Amino acid sequence: MKKILVIEYSQTGQLTTVMDRLLGPLLESGDEFIVHRESLQTIPAAPFPWPFWQFLDTFPETVTGDSPPLQPLRVDEASEFDLIILAYPVWFLSPPPAVTAFLKSDHASRLLRGRPVVTVTACRNMWVMAQERIKTLLLAVGARHCDHVALVDQGSALASFITTPRWMLTGRKNAFWKFPAAGVSASQIHASRRFGQALRQALRTDQEKLARPMLHGLAACTVDTGLASSERVGIRSFRLWAAVLRALGQPGTPLRRVALAFYLFFLIVLILTVVPLSLLLKVALRPFFKQHLTTLKNHLEKPSGSDRSRLPLFDE
Ligand SMILES: Cc1cc2nc3c(=O)[nH]c(=O)nc-3n(C[C@H](O)[C@H](O)[C@H](O)COP(=O)(O)O)c2cc1C
Repeated sequence: MKKILVIEYSQTGQLTTVMDRLLGPLLESGDEFIVHRESLQTIPAAPFPWPFWQFLDTFPETVTGDSPPLQPLRVDEASEFDLIILAYPVWFLSPPPAVTAFLKSDHASRLLRGRPVVTVTACRNMWVMAQERIKTLLLAVGARHCDHVALVDQGSALASFITTPRWMLTGRKNAFWKFPAAGVSASQIHASRRFGQALRQALRTDQEKLARPMLHGLAACTVDTGLASSERVGIRSFRLWAAVLRALGQPGTPLRRVALAFYLFFLIVLILTVVPLSLLLKVALRPFFKQHLTTLKNHLEKPSGSDRSRLPLFDE
């Protein structure tokens, strides 16, 4: 019998639905596997839908990696698990505060040290920098990161630039005008069962003990190098502004609100001018940097990768 610990954070319940589907094959296997699920929750919990200013004002503390207090976990920290699955959404190119707080806790180092960890994210489409941060935090607690699954919102990047904030700020997820519904598509969520099937097969043959991915060949995560480069520039700007905003005061203070409004204006101008220009430049220069971009893509997609070769084996 193998024991699996699932640590998850999901504000609207989208990632919980993904995990319900992904864990299905393990939960259906009788007493072959014990699955213990823990939902992280900060004190106080973040609101949903978000009031506009509160949404923006969460950015500095999220980016600098503050650790707010968490609701106590139910799991006995002396328990030993064969596999740990950490499921998190992305906030401002970073892990959400609840996840950062957990990974920085003594609890995490006791539960995760020396253990294989699979990470799962479901977000708009910019997860690379957050995942790099998660990898650093996992390394710091001595965990062995073995796989990563990334699901992204349906529609183009331009469409989700409208549909995701609309969902976060109003709670409305439906399709409207020419825009698709917000969030990860139902078909992608349905298909995430393949990861549970592959994990079940791997655990049956002790593959979690080996230093190699169990979810390769399943299109687990696909990096768009154009978006990844924008993320790299974005996170630098976020870190700088997060430090400035924090220096101006606590969340909610008037001076900070004025600076936030200015930064929002600056960001929108940047997104509407510099980002399309730099994307155009990148497309023009792509042939000259083909090798470099392929190496970067392979590196960022590690450990599980975007290869699809095993998809027909897990087709349910
Ligand atoms: C404050 C906040 C910031 C977000 N920032 C990003 C981001 O930088 N990149 C991204 O791909 N998605 C971002 N999202 C979308 C989330 O990753 C995720 O898709 C959404 O919150 C639903 O997840 P959940 O309900 O399972 O928690 C953000 C959401 C929130 C609430």
